[in-house]
Amino acid sequence: MNIQKTTLAVASATLAAGISMAAWAEYETLVEMGYPAPQEGELVHVPPTMADLEEADLHPELKQVIRRGYDLFTNTQQLRGENVFNDMNCSSCHLGEGRQPFSAPIWPAAVTLPNFRGKNQHVNNLEERIAGCFAYSMNGTPPAYGSDDMLALSAYHRWLATGAPVYPDQPIYGRGFPAPERPETLSYENGEALFVENCAICHSEDGSGLYEDGEYVFPATWGDGSNNWGAGIVRTHTAAGFIKNNMPLGQPLSLSDQQAWDIAYYMTRQERPQDPRFTESVDQVLEQFGPTFHKHSSYGDVREHDGHRLADHANWGEKGDIVPWNVGQGRFENLED
Ligand code: HEC
Ligand code: HEC
Repeated sequence: MNIQKTTLAVASATLAAGISMAAWAEYETLVEMGYPAPQEGELVHVPPTMADLEEADLHPELKQVIRRGYDLFTNTQQLRGENVFNDMNCSSCHLGEGRQPFSAPIWPAAVTLPNFRGKNQHVNNLEERIAGCFAYSMNGTPPAYGSDDMLALSAYHRWLATGAPVYPDQPIYGRGFPAPERPETLSYENGEALFVENCAICHSEDGSGLYEDGEYVFPATWGDGSNNWGAGIVRTHTAAGFIKNNMPLGQPLSLSDQQAWDIAYYMTRQERPQDPRFTESVDQVLEQFGPTFHKHSSYGDVREHDGHRLADHANWGEKGDIVPWNVGQGRFENLED
């Protein structure tokens, strides 16, 4: 498409949506890269950067806490063995330090919570949402609610939301990992070939990523170093949305929808640590979560080419028998209408 035309179209959509042109500048680049322009009525928010923090009129101690939150978010490996038991940082999936649209920017959680969450069937606050990513995506167990680390992380999330309306009634531009349209058929073989060709150079053919002298370089896409079977990214559409919008690193949107889905299908049909909601068997998990969460994953499927039943194991990865304390915790048992 003609860039000039696109820019004009974007500028008018921007004005209609009431976004300042200054805030828009950064987003215009996204549209030039091929991301969709904001629709009329969508909430567009440009989170502040760490450079903005230095300029901001905030208490110096608050700035320190936000810096600590940023540091935990981008180097979560410092909690390895305590709260994190895989090779991930929060920023391994939330690109651009949690600011990037179409890469599940994290600030929306700070303005849309507390709210009911289908995954655990109760009203969650920001700390509980963060704790969820610890239990599943980091294959870990979260820092305690109200702890220094939890405070620092939530302060970072909240600060990124500076200026955004609380409980917005508009949809949020670039939220989550929006999936491209699902093609009619998905091919494991094609996904494998594409992974080897486009991804293995960084994530390695066996999905284990790259660690150099014990230092994080590229994260693991499956296996013990990756997220467990309960993480949001094991859902095929979420993986497809992540891949289409973010990978290969530095070349987002370069894969066709079919390619992104085939790779997602291949990637999510590899083994990883057990879902922490597992208590006795794959069938028990499927009975509880098959109709909801795992409807969209390959959990418990039998792989065509080798007859392997996915997730039929008691491997929890490096976490061993540590049980994330937040999983299965409800709230307000006796709440009256
Ligand atoms: C393995 C990938 C992965 C890692 C690592 C990860 N997350 Fe997430 N995160 C996700 C996915 C997937 C979602 C759901 C996105 C969606 O709904 O499409 C999500 C959602 C969120 C949200 C909610 C965003 C919203 O729109 O409301 C927050 C907040 C969040 N993560 C924080 C964290 C924090 C903090 C960490 C590190 C402790 C972390 N995440 C690590 C994959 C990951
Ligand atoms: C040039 C190296 C590179 C290439 C090529 C690449 N990635 Fe990544 N990938 C990364 C890095 C680095 C991250 C984490 C982001 C960060 O730490 O900044 C990542 C993160 C991921 C994640 C989320 C974290 C995890 O490990 O699960 C997935 C999934 C992923 N990539 C899949 C792919 C797929 C599929 C391809 C091929 C289409 C691909 N990547 C190609 C470097 C790469």
